Amino acid sequence: MLTKAPRGTRDLLPEECAKWLYIENVFRETCTLFGYQEIRTPTFEHTELFQRGIGETTDIVEKEMYTFEDKSGRSITLKPEGTAPVARAYIEHKLYNNPLPVKLFYITPCFRYERPQAGRYREFHQFGIEAFGSPSPLIDVEVIALAVLFFEKLGLSQLEVHINSIGCKACREDYKKALKDFLFKKKDFLCDTCLLRLERNPLRILDCKNPNCQKILEDVPKIVDYLCDDCRRHFAEVEKGLTTVGVKYQVNPGIVRGLDYYTKTVFEIISEELGAQSTVCGGGRYDNLIEECGGPHTPAAGFGIGIERLVLILEAKGLIEIPSKEMDVFIAVMDENYREYGLQLLYRLRKTGFSAEMDNMGRSLKAQMKYASKIPVKYAFIIGEDEVKSGKITVKDLATGEQDKVSCDEAEIYLKNKIRKGC
Ligand code: HAM
Repeated sequence: MLTKAPRGTRDLLPEECAKWLYIENVFRETCTLFGYQEIRTPTFEHTELFQRGIGETTDIVEKEMYTFEDKSGRSITLKPEGTAPVARAYIEHKLYNNPLPVKLFYITPCFRYERPQAGRYREFHQFGIEAFGSPSPLIDVEVIALAVLFFEKLGLSQLEVHINSIGCKACREDYKKALKDFLFKKKDFLCDTCLLRLERNPLRILDCKNPNCQKILEDVPKIVDYLCDDCRRHFAEVEKGLTTVGVKYQVNPGIVRGLDYYTKTVFEIISEELGAQSTVCGGGRYDNLIEECGGPHTPAAGFGIGIERLVLILEAKGLIEIPSKEMDVFIAVMDENYREYGLQLLYRLRKTGFSAEMDNMGRSLKAQMKYASKIPVKYAFIIGEDEVKSGKITVKDLATGEQDKVSCDEAEIYLKNKIRKGC
C-alpha cells in the first residue's frame, strides 16, 4: 500500500512531465490565438453544483463522484469535470458584466470513480474551454475549430470530428416521449439501471454500455428527426460554418454525451488509436446551465480534452519525443580543497542564467566526469591547484573532447559566446 499509488492514479515522472509541458504550451498558444484567457478553479466544490449542473441521473453523479463530508459536515466533491466549476465562477464573479462573449480556458485535474483501464483513470486531466454569452452557431464552430487546430499543431490531422444536435428543452420533450414509447415496448430487455432511467431520464439510456441495451438502441428514434425549426436552423449554420473554416466532420446521430447540461450542438473527436476509450475530446453547447446554477440567462459552449488520452495517441503515432535537456556546465573539482572555489562559481553561473551542477556525492574526479557525461551537460569546468593559482579554469567540451583555458572572471562571457551562438 505504502509504495503504490491508489488505483486509477498515476505518477508523472520527469520524462513524461516534459511531454505534458510541451502539450500544455501548445494548448495555451492555441487558446490565445482564439482570444481565450486562462481560469483556475478549486479542486473541490459543493456537491450540489455537480448534482444540479451535470444532472442527478447521469453516470457521473450517480456512480462516479468522489464525495465526502468535511469536518463541518458540508458535502464536498472533487471536481469530476471542468464546466460546472467555471460556470459557477462566471456567476460568482459576475463575469457577465464583462464584454461578451467571455472566453475562458483551463487545465485541470478531474476525479471520477470509474473502472480503470487504458485511457480511463480515476484521477485524470482535462484541457477545456468555455465561451459564455453568445447564442451564435459560429461560437459552436469556433469551439470545434479550436480543438481541431490544437490537434493539428500537435501533428494530429486525421482525427474524426463527429457532430450532432440534441435540440433544446422544447423539442427534446417531443423526442423524450417518442423514445420512452419505443423503449417501453422493449423494457423486458433493458438493464436494471435503464429501467429506472426509463421513468426518470430516458435520454441517459442512450449512453448505456450494457450490450443488451446497446442492441436495442440500434433502432431507436433519432433526435435529429425531432428538432424544432430554430434548432434545425442552428445545426445547419454550424455545418455551414465548419465547412467555411475548413473543418472536416461527420454527422453522427449516436452522439448524445453523458452530461445533462447540453443543448443543440454536441460533438466528439475520436481516435482509432484509443480502442474502447476512443473519445479524446467531447463538448457542445449548453444554453441553460448558467441559469440553472442561479445566474442570468447565458448561452454557452465548450469542450474538454482528456490529456492522458491525448498523450496515448501522440505516443502511439511517435509524435511526442522530447529530447532530454542538456545542462550548460558541470563543475568538477580535483578534491575537496577546491570545493569552495567551485561552489562560488556554481552559484555565480546559476544567478546569471546558466544551468550548472556540481557533485554532492563525494565522487573522485574521474567519477565526476563520468557522471557529467550522463546528466548530460555541454561543458565541464575542471578546478584544481593550477586553476586556482592561475585563475584560469580548464574547460572541456564534452561533445568533442576539446579543452580550453578560460579566465574564471570571464566564464560567463565564454559560455555566452559558445552557447548562445549555438556552438
Ligand atoms: P467528458 O466527455 O465527460 O466531457 O470528458 C471530456 C474528455 O475527458 C473525454 O473525452 C475524455 O478524453 C476525458 N475523460 C473523461 N473521463 C476520463 C477518465 N476517467 N480517464 C481519462 N480521461 C477521461 C466533459 O467533462 C465536459 N465538461 C466537456 C465540456 C466542456 N463540455 C462543454 N464544455
